[in-house]
Amino acid sequence: MTDRPVRSGPDRSAAPERDDRPVVLLLSGPNLNLLGEREPDTYGTTTLDEHVAIATTRAHAAGLSLDHRQSNHEGDLIDAVHDARGRCAAIIINPGALTHYAWGLHDALAAFDGPVIEVHLSNPVAREPWRHTSVVSPVATGTIAGLGGLGYVLAVDAVRTLLGTS
Ligand code: DQA
Repeated sequence: MTDRPVRSGPDRSAAPERDDRPVVLLLSGPNLNLLGEREPDTYGTTTLDEHVAIATTRAHAAGLSLDHRQSNHEGDLIDAVHDARGRCAAIIINPGALTHYAWGLHDALAAFDGPVIEVHLSNPVAREPWRHTSVVSPVATGTIAGLGGLGYVLAVDAVRTLLGTS
């Protein structure tokens, strides 16, 4: 029997892949977890998970990684924006009803250094007067509203162009 040298070394199959892609934080505000069931005439029948899956595919094609968080609480969203500082290259946010009065969220976004894209499935300015004010728009790079789920896809495209990833 011939002796064959046994090669040793790190088991690369177990090593996590290195991911250098810029991270985009997609934030969803209150009640968006009910998409698909909630007021389908206004918001459509696509679930939040489906919107996120489509946005994720688009992001990957653009050389971006996408992190999604949904919360019904302003403080959680503020914490997520703080956590994105220095970690994420851009934020896409549908703040839900917080859009119209959440100055704490406004201030958190103002402290984020990177593009912020505000997305609404419906067109708030074509709805009740209390929806006509957005406290997020003044700190957003741009706003996409009224285009349903297409808004998330266009937001990813906007981030790609602004960051120049592809
Ligand atoms: C919304 C519009 C808001 O006015 C509303 O409160 C929502 C959803 C939209 O996506 O159209 O929850 O942000």
